[in-house]
Formats: sequence, C-alpha cells, structure tokens
Amino acid sequence: MSRKKLYMKTYGCQMNVYDSIRMTDLMHNVGYESSESYEGADLVVLNTCHIREKAAEKVYSELGRINKAKNKKKSEGGNMIIAVAGCVGQAEGEEIFRRAPYVDVVVGPQSYQSLPDLVGKVQRDSGHVINLEFEDDKFDKLAADIESQGASAFLSIQEGCDKFCTFCVVPYTRGAEYSRNVPEIYREAIKLVALGAKEITLLGQNVNAFHGKSEDGEVWNLGKLISHLSKISGLERIRYSTSHPRDMHDDLYNAHANDPKVMAFLNLPVQSGSNRILSSMNRKHTRDEYFRIIDRLREGRPDMQFSSDFIIGFPGETDRDFEDTMDLARRVGFTQGYSFKYSPRPGTPGADMDNQVPEHIKNERLQAFQNLINEQQIAFNESCIDKTMSVLFDKKGKRNGQIVGRNEYMQSVHIEAPDDLIGSIIDVRITSAGPNSLGGEIVN
Ligand code: 5AD
Ligand code: SF4
Repeated sequence: MSRKKLYMKTYGCQMNVYDSIRMTDLMHNVGYESSESYEGADLVVLNTCHIREKAAEKVYSELGRINKAKNKKKSEGGNMIIAVAGCVGQAEGEEIFRRAPYVDVVVGPQSYQSLPDLVGKVQRDSGHVINLEFEDDKFDKLAADIESQGASAFLSIQEGCDKFCTFCVVPYTRGAEYSRNVPEIYREAIKLVALGAKEITLLGQNVNAFHGKSEDGEVWNLGKLISHLSKISGLERIRYSTSHPRDMHDDLYNAHANDPKVMAFLNLPVQSGSNRILSSMNRKHTRDEYFRIIDRLREGRPDMQFSSDFIIGFPGETDRDFEDTMDLARRVGFTQGYSFKYSPRPGTPGADMDNQVPEHIKNERLQAFQNLINEQQIAFNESCIDKTMSVLFDKKGKRNGQIVGRNEYMQSVHIEAPDDLIGSIIDVRITSAGPNSLGGEIVN
C-alpha cells in the first residue's frame, strides 16, 4: 500500500519550526510521507502563530484555500484531514470549528505528541477532535522518533514564559516557563549529531532563562548546559534563540568568551530603545543595561554580532521615544533586525492601553526604522568582502550548481560547488555582498 501524504506548513518562530519537525517525525512513524503540496494530501497540518493579528488571519485564509482541495478530493471519493496546530489552535480553540467547520483536528503546542492518536480518532469516528492540554510528558513521548535534520538542527530545551511583557500573547498560548532536564537534552543532542548535525540551535521562548535539572538533581543554567554539550565530539557549532536581556548570566558570558563552538552571533530582542516604553512594556530593564550586555559580550568576543526584535508604535510611543529606538540601533549597529508594527492582542494589557498610536504614524516610523536596519545590514555585508569565513553548508542554492550555508554571524553565504559538500564546514573567501546574502569561493 502506498504511504499516505502529509502536508505540513509552518508559521512563526523557530519553536514552531522545531514542533513541525517533531510532528512530521511522529506522522512518518505511523505511515505518512511528506508532500510539498496540500493538493491531494491525506493530512494537512497548519502549525500556526498567534503573535500578531495578521499572522492569525493568514491562517484562516489559507484554511479557505485548503478546503477547496479537500472538497475536490471528496468529490473524487477521497478524504483529507485538516489539523490546526500551534498557537492559533491554543488561543482560538473551538472557535476554529465555528469559523472553519471543515477543520477536523485542533491541537496546541503542549499536546501535539497526541497528533497521531487524534488523526486516528477522526479516521475512525469522524467529527471534530481537540486537545489543548498542557501535558508534561510531551518530550518523553517524542523522544523515540528523532529523524535527521541535516547539518544544522534545532533542539527545544525550554518552553513558555513567565515574563508577561504587556504586548505579548506567549505567556497565554505557551504557558508557564518549563525547562527540559539536562540528560534528556544531552541524549537528543547526541542523536542529532549521530544523524549528521554539526550545528545545534537550542530553542526556547526564553531560552536563557533555562534552568534544567542535571543528572544529580542540581539545577543548571544555559551557560552550564552549553559547556556540557560543547564536549560532544562532532558537534562544531552551538547557537541559542531567543534570549531575554534580563536572563544573561556569568556562565553564558563565559561560554561566549571562551568556547569556540559558541557562535559569535546573538539575537537579543530589545523591543524599544526608550526607557519609558520599556517600562510600560514590562521589560524590566533599561536601555543602558542593554548597552552594558552588548559591551560585555563584545569584550569577550570582539567580533560578536547582534540582531534584535523591535516593536514600533507601542501605545504611548512619542516621536522622542521612537528617536530613542533609532538611537539605540545606531549605537549597537545590528547586522540583522526584525521590526514589527505593534499589533494589539486581545487579553494582553497593551491592547487596553488608551494611547494607541495611529496606523499612519506606525507605518512612517516602521519605514524609517527598517531603512536604518537595512543600511546597517548592507554595511556589514559589504565589510565582509575579501574576508575568509567558515561556513556550514546545509542545502542546495536557488541556482543550479550552488550550495548555501551560514557563516558564524548567521549571514547566508552561497558558493558554486558540488552538492556533496552539503554538510561540511568550509573556509570561504567572500567575493560579493547583497542586501541579504554573501557570495564567495572556497579557499585553496
Ligand atoms: N505586536 C507586534 N509585535 C509583537 N511581538 C510580540 N508581540 C507583538 C505584538 N503584539 C514581536 C516581538 C517579539 C517577536 C517574536 O514578535 O518583537 O520579540
Ligand atoms: Fe513574550 Fe516577553 Fe515572554 Fe518574550 S519575554 S515571550 S516577548 S512575554
């Protein structure tokens, strides 16, 4: 019998990318194979993001399109099961069945280990099934099915968040902060490396708040965990994402300064450069504290590069506050930046603040801010020309005969080379720089 077809689409953050990988592993294990298109698929899973309003609305429009394919399949005598996973599932729950009655399964980020069971239930009984429990045996159930992620792999070590920034839905959709324990993480890392990973990115909504139990019951921080994982032979590169400025700690600074496997790049979201807005966002740090973190990391690793997340037009943001954000970006000099217009999320304190910024002002500021970040990114990319950088190649390029990878600083680098170099770390001399990627040639 031919294998059933699974189409998985991922929205949002790297945590979702990891969750999609694990859901795919689970479904492969019960007889599905992956498909590039939802046309004709037996199971369609949308792993969704609820962080901004637009992200959630996109899911509903995609569901509409998928339903057409479902009807087509039905008219040909087949069946397509549609599942909504991730944070929209968690936040909207039964509401999804009301808005999109053709959805069969809704499952949250803490309960997706039950996906094969839920799909089985729909096949047997039809009708809607939903599981939004916060189950604590998730990772135990997932442990058995790890498949290769290639040369660069994700490993989720921490989930949820207790910070309650006033703009953010994460504490509601992903729940309280939870860290996996050290031996479990170590075993998963060993498996990933055995399956070909040279780089592992440790993931968490608040990854540097990690506090997992070690073998002897002692609680370890992220810095200690990284030093432990760093001993795995064959593992060449370690990254972690996403961090909160308040959770930086000595062991982590030391790992950056002393461990060559820890990459000289960090995404450290600051959200705003204005102390007034930072306080109203409940970030619990100032701009000066942020500068001190950057300085300390650069003292340990002078070539350290940074990216950040920024929210433009948070309630009460004045021209002056916005100028502070521009100024912060100028002072730090980012190599990448993710900036978003503030999007009021129902149920979060920010949504009820009465000094919302008008849309046209948000648009103007966002444009100015993105121009600045683009300039910084281009300047950095151009400064790489003629330098030799080590690049981990992990996939084919868009053009035939090209392969693509990332340098230490997370920039995308492409070279002309045979596919069999995918999976290798190679010294590359950079010969060209575009706004979003670098081109180069192999040294020697
Ligand atoms: N509006 C706009 N951006 C948001 N983010 C989180 N919540 C909101 C919101 N309500 C951004 C933050 C966060 C990133 C993942 O998404 O910058 O770091
Ligand atoms: Fe959201 Fe703030 Fe927690 Fe990050 S730290 S997930 S922005 S509440």
